[in-house]
Amino acid sequence: MFVRYDDEVLCHSFEPIHLEDIEDRTHESFHLLLNRQGLGKEFLGWMDLPLQKEEDLKLLFDVAQEIRESGDVLVCIGIGGSYLGAKAVISSLFPNENKIRFAGKHLSPLELTRLLEELREKDFYINVISKSGTTIEPGIAFRFLRNLAYEKYGKEASHRIIATTDASKGALRALSEQEGYRTFTIPNDVGGRFSVLTPVGLLPILAMGGNLQSILKGAKAGYDQAILDDRTNPAFRYARNRKILLKNGKAIEILATFEPQIHFLAEWWKQLFGESEGKKEKGLYPASAVFTTDLHSLGQWIQEGTRNIFETFLIIDTYDTDLLIPHDDQNLDSLNYIAGKSLSWVNQKAYEGTLKAHQEGGVPVSTFHLDRLDEENIFELLVIFEFAIAIYGYTLGVNPFDQPGVEAYKKNMFRLLGR
Ligand code: PA5
Repeated sequence: MFVRYDDEVLCHSFEPIHLEDIEDRTHESFHLLLNRQGLGKEFLGWMDLPLQKEEDLKLLFDVAQEIRESGDVLVCIGIGGSYLGAKAVISSLFPNENKIRFAGKHLSPLELTRLLEELREKDFYINVISKSGTTIEPGIAFRFLRNLAYEKYGKEASHRIIATTDASKGALRALSEQEGYRTFTIPNDVGGRFSVLTPVGLLPILAMGGNLQSILKGAKAGYDQAILDDRTNPAFRYARNRKILLKNGKAIEILATFEPQIHFLAEWWKQLFGESEGKKEKGLYPASAVFTTDLHSLGQWIQEGTRNIFETFLIIDTYDTDLLIPHDDQNLDSLNYIAGKSLSWVNQKAYEGTLKAHQEGGVPVSTFHLDRLDEENIFELLVIFEFAIAIYGYTLGVNPFDQPGVEAYKKNMFRLLGR
């Protein structure tokens, strides 16, 4: 176990009556989830994914290796849950990886044109990812990219296209069968935002060099913590704390990190939480911040603005790469008092100072600590977050696994497009 949830100070600030009441409700929700009796129980396949074995993933691993060994660019086409898991892990662990591009996550002619121009000069594989196989953003991007692939590689293009989609339904499945693309399946009982441990997330992550053994080890460690029926369970405590804070008038949760490299973990979390809890006019609004950068923009608001927020910090305790602040004989910048200290130590002090200041400013705070930045820690955290939002969603009485509200903009857009 590498991930630690520190909510001691937060819990001391709660009225005992709230703590007990809500703890009981959260307990019921926890059991509803574990017994697979709650709303959306047909979408609980994600709960079993941390128990996968390396040997179950042999084919996936081999295709990822083929892409990796080719040295070609991998273009992942997908949006929402079909994009954010891979993006979050790859950008956190392999920030300099230049062999991956993401497409189909918007409708920008500028970005897609740039990508198409770049790919004319490069060799590439395509991993098109869509559970429904009918989402318009990846659908459009795939049209352009597949045309380019056929233009460049002729018939061989079909070997370079890998589709990750539903087992039997959807246009992408039909097209893959017709064109002979290799395919991976998104299980029926796993929704997009819970799919990082399926081929949706794993193929791109492994193709960029992710360590499968460590991924599974971390996921299992997260699972082992999240199913514990006692007060040490971080998913349970986090869900309970969110519920108490909501009851106390908080409306916005800020997931704040002091490490820009893990910014996309917060983007993944925003989708997971936002789409799961924002229903029936309920739920907290998931926001994020990267400090210290945002302390110089949002810091003022967080310290003294409307008191309807709380903060959850995401902190990396140990850095494998670090820098020592150099001594300067002239010391004109007056920084010699920290000369010889590591940058991560200064960052740590910034976190401690911020936590205290925000707390004193009336912002409830708690912290998830990652022991270090690697596959084990990240996947442990992702699994804890998945369990936490499922438990929390049940405390609200919503189905955490559907997203009916996402259809509203699509309906209008399709009408305006003349479909
Ligand atoms: O979490 C979800 O279910 C959504 O965010 C989907 O992942 C997203 O809308 C993309 O859907 P699809 O994979 O069907 O293209």
